[in-house]
Amino acid sequence: MTIQRQNYRCNICGNIIEVLHAGKGELVCCGQPMELLQEKTADTGMEKHVPIVETSAKGIKVKVGDVPHPMEEKHHIQWVEVITDSGDYRQFLKPGGKPEAEFQIRAQNIVAREYCNIHGLWKSK
Ligand SMILES: [Fe+2]
Repeated sequence: MTIQRQNYRCNICGNIIEVLHAGKGELVCCGQPMELLQEKTADTGMEKHVPIVETSAKGIKVKVGDVPHPMEEKHHIQWVEVITDSGDYRQFLKPGGKPEAEFQIRAQNIVAREYCNIHGLWKSK
């Protein structure tokens, strides 16, 4: 049984998927069950991952880490997602860019998530 918005990864081929509509079946890729990505909310290492949500002139800015996360080819933030009362929004980031995303939205009850290609899925507090 899945839950809407859960993220799963295939540890063989690297596919990552998000559940848009929950179903009863087990998610399988490359012949084995996909791994449910747990949303982490507390940093313990040197690099900081917990997304920080701020209001900006355009709407909402999400920064990854109270210390900016690396954006190198081998280690970077792949996407930032915001889940709000008025909808879900995602921006894909690239190595060399800033570890942040800005969304032109006005919303309440904002939860931000981001995915680091090495350290996985993180959620704002
Ligand atoms: Fe990381």
